[in-house]
Amino acid sequence: MSTLTALPERPLRFIRNHRLVTVEAPAPDAMLLDWLRAGGEHGTREGCAEGDCGACTVVLGELHQGSLRLRAVNSCIRLLSSIDGCALFTIEDLQAADGALHPAQQAMLECHGSQCGFCTPGFVMSMFALYHQAGAGAPPGCIDREHAQTALSGNLCRCTGYRPILEAAQTMHEHPARPLDEATLTAQLRALQVPEGQRLTSPGGVTWRPADRTQALACRRASPAAQIVAGTTDVGLWINKGHQAPAEVLDLSGVAELAEIRVGGGELHIGAGARLTDAFDAISRRWPPVAGFLGRFAGQPVRNSATLGGNIANGSPIGDSMPLLIALDTRLTLANTRSQREMPLEHFYTGYRRNRLGADELVCDVRIPEPVPGQVVRAYKVSKRFEDDISAVCLALALRLVDGRILAARIGVGGMAATPCRAPATEAALVDQPWSLAVLQAAGDILRNEFTPISDMRASAGYRREVIGNLLTRLWHDVQDGGVSLAELQP
Ligand SMILES: Cc1cc2nc3c(=O)[nH]c(=O)nc-3n(C[C@H](O)[C@H](O)[C@H](O)COP(=O)(O)OP(=O)(O)OC[C@H]3O[C@@H](n4cnc5c(N)ncnc54)[C@H](O)[C@@H]3O)c2cc1C
Ligand code: FES
Ligand code: FES
Repeated sequence: MSTLTALPERPLRFIRNHRLVTVEAPAPDAMLLDWLRAGGEHGTREGCAEGDCGACTVVLGELHQGSLRLRAVNSCIRLLSSIDGCALFTIEDLQAADGALHPAQQAMLECHGSQCGFCTPGFVMSMFALYHQAGAGAPPGCIDREHAQTALSGNLCRCTGYRPILEAAQTMHEHPARPLDEATLTAQLRALQVPEGQRLTSPGGVTWRPADRTQALACRRASPAAQIVAGTTDVGLWINKGHQAPAEVLDLSGVAELAEIRVGGGELHIGAGARLTDAFDAISRRWPPVAGFLGRFAGQPVRNSATLGGNIANGSPIGDSMPLLIALDTRLTLANTRSQREMPLEHFYTGYRRNRLGADELVCDVRIPEPVPGQVVRAYKVSKRFEDDISAVCLALALRLVDGRILAARIGVGGMAATPCRAPATEAALVDQPWSLAVLQAAGDILRNEFTPISDMRASAGYRREVIGNLLTRLWHDVQDGGVSLAELQP
């Protein structure tokens, strides 16, 4: 316990409107949205309380590599304790002292983007983040429709229809610029960064907030029963919907070291605590054809909080990043205070939501070999809705094509078994074969029978089998007709 009690007891501190706000002893399961609304701020709405509708969207300002970065997040599933050291913006903070609306609000008004108004604060906050990401002084037209759609992918509107809202997002920069005082805010955030971690003790329990990897592993060792959280986009649902009330929480969201993304030894290293937005960006830059697939993971505010390590450790059989990571031959680094070990991701899982993580270990690093010549990587997600939905089936493939032959194949699947897994029989049917539709279709038949999926509310077992085999035919058309680049095919 000694290392744990060494984390100093300190109130939660964050910046709001350039002023320091302190909160004494928030309970370990206190959510940001509940705290806002209990304090009388009702502009931030509660719709679903599970990250699905965006009514609760707020914007967090954080220091990233020394600079200010604004991102929209869902406050309903964001732990209050996790905003320590951040700047918080809610809908109540947007109107200027003289009453002038923020360009995001003004554009919504002028484009008739609101009817009942329930969803409007959430949309406006996502637009506020987008506005400042583009830059307050950016020219009109700097945000195109696709950009606006991505930024608003986590916000649902039941009555207005999306056309006027998207139009508002695209025209915000036509209004008089409203810059943030970034220099002051950055200095204020810097002053809040402290290296010694934090302990928040309340009548409801305790939250450990380590500031570095060593402290995080020491906390894990001293308190293996503490609920680990990173982005809380899974755990937040267990609290809000499952009514779990963890008395002890190990919150990794302040450990910048675990969120690092770097290249070394021929591998892309993604820290387990890297936000999905950043992790997916690094992956998409190396394998551009999977960008569309990764863009279908939840909505942007969820991806801004959720971490890659959280997706892997949660281990849902329909988790979306694991099939792709398995296809890419990813290895995990698991560490405790004394040592660390590595294992291929596909060996991490032992059963439905069970894995090999030791009681004193954390997932620390996700290591993906860099692309090789001739590598063709594709990933497919089949779900009921195109956006913001969980997979019924997911298939990812990394093939090596040289001179019209398949030299190597790795396949990751989701939704077909109790865990995300590899498809070795299908891989064997592809390796050393010519790259042809007939070979892919024969492999599709093998893939259909390689697993025994279940029927559930997302899909029947028969549908899952049929569709996953068909995805190999889709791969053929995708690569042939979709135009795989020559550079991809050259050895
Ligand atoms: C609206 C919505 C949509 C979603 N859509 C998708 C989707 O399309 N596809 C999909 O796959 N998932 C989806 N999810 C699930 C979720 O967003 C992901 O699983 C996410 O990656 C979890 O990361 P997190 O950091 O939020 O995890 P948390 O909720 O903080 O933690 C999840 C689990 O991982 C453990 N954990 C976290 N970090 C570590 C670590 N470093 N070491 C050991 N254990 C750790 C925690 O103890 C916990 O058991 C969705 C969730 C929501 C709310
Ligand atoms: S209330 Fe619906 S996403 Fe938070
Ligand atoms: S304006 Fe009514 S839900 Fe969007």
